Amino acid sequence: MSEIKKHFFAQLDETIATLKTEGMEVIRLDIGSPDLPPHPSVIETLGRASARGDSHGYQSHLGPLSYREAWVGMYKDVFGVDIDPAREIVPLLGTKEGIYHLSQAIIKSGDVVLIPDPYYPTYLRGTQLAGGEPYFMPLLAENDYLPDLDAIPEEVADKAKLLWVNYPNNPLGATAPLSFYEKLVRFAEKHDILICSDIPYSQVCFGENIPPSIMQVDGAKDVAIEFNSLSKSHNMAGWRIGAAVGNVPTLDALLKLKTNADSGHFGPILEAASHAMGLQPSWIQERNAVYRERRDIIVTSLRSLGVDVDSPQASLYIWCPIPEGWVSEKFAMAMLEEASVSVAPGTVFGSNGEGFVRISITQPKEKIEEAMQKLTDWWKTL
Ligand SMILES: Cc1ncc(COP(=O)(O)O)c(C=O)c1O
Repeated sequence: MSEIKKHFFAQLDETIATLKTEGMEVIRLDIGSPDLPPHPSVIETLGRASARGDSHGYQSHLGPLSYREAWVGMYKDVFGVDIDPAREIVPLLGTKEGIYHLSQAIIKSGDVVLIPDPYYPTYLRGTQLAGGEPYFMPLLAENDYLPDLDAIPEEVADKAKLLWVNYPNNPLGATAPLSFYEKLVRFAEKHDILICSDIPYSQVCFGENIPPSIMQVDGAKDVAIEFNSLSKSHNMAGWRIGAAVGNVPTLDALLKLKTNADSGHFGPILEAASHAMGLQPSWIQERNAVYRERRDIIVTSLRSLGVDVDSPQASLYIWCPIPEGWVSEKFAMAMLEEASVSVAPGTVFGSNGEGFVRISITQPKEKIEEAMQKLTDWWKTL
């Protein structure tokens, strides 16, 4: 424990709570927690199910078949992929829980784990707490923010146990084409590596098509599992509701560990989540249009400051370069203290995050406009 830090956002919550007691009104564009509610019928389903006297006991770790079938239906509709509800899916308390527990279930002390940089911090923390050895794969603009598999030394690839990928990417907002996943599956077959694909942002997207799932590739289930949740896709981050799908022996190991670590979900949450997954796609499209407008406000403000920023096609984040002469942690802290706007320093996501901050679009339009005005006024004084 002495070698790991508290999660950045847990620490930031404490800092912002202190600033609030000192009278500061902070606009939070740091964390990716959707501000919009789930569809009203999802909340109604939760209410109805909770009102039943028989819905308050422990659930099995696999939950009811209807919950797994709802995921199966969503994978079929969104990605055209068939998942066997009996064997190829394990419910999760959000993907974060699954990512952490998978690491504990699979990694032995000294195992090499391939982690993109920037990364979602739990890939690294889960690896470290299991005694694994991280090997970082830089995500660079010149490679379209995809890991360069050919640059991984053969001896590292042969030793590696597990490889993390995350598209749409947090914090970069980048997406991966299906051709990348095809290459990745062949790489995993060659080197006997388990691929862990983490896609909670797959349905938060602004283009014509929904970014693909690795499960669309032939043979993916032999080498890969995929983590997904309703946190971002259905505005249900606080509900802690997700699933892992794919490779059966890996899912069996994860489930075995989970039966020793947690006691499943609150049943009404599973019912309401199943209902959410059956909503019309138009609900998600309309929600994404709200995000797109917010994205454009932020990107336009930054570009008018002369900042060379990409407009992301998916995810909840804008990856913003900071001015020369600053380091990202100091820059984010100065913005918080002097402009009352909170963003995440890029280095929270690894050393390749230096020189950037991550700006989240999870505030109402008016708040984003206010924040961008404050940020612009402050930036011009630098
Ligand atoms: C890339 C990525 N993976 C996983 C998670 C965890 O999400 P949840 O546990 O809510 O599904 C997040 C949350 O921000 C994330 O950004």
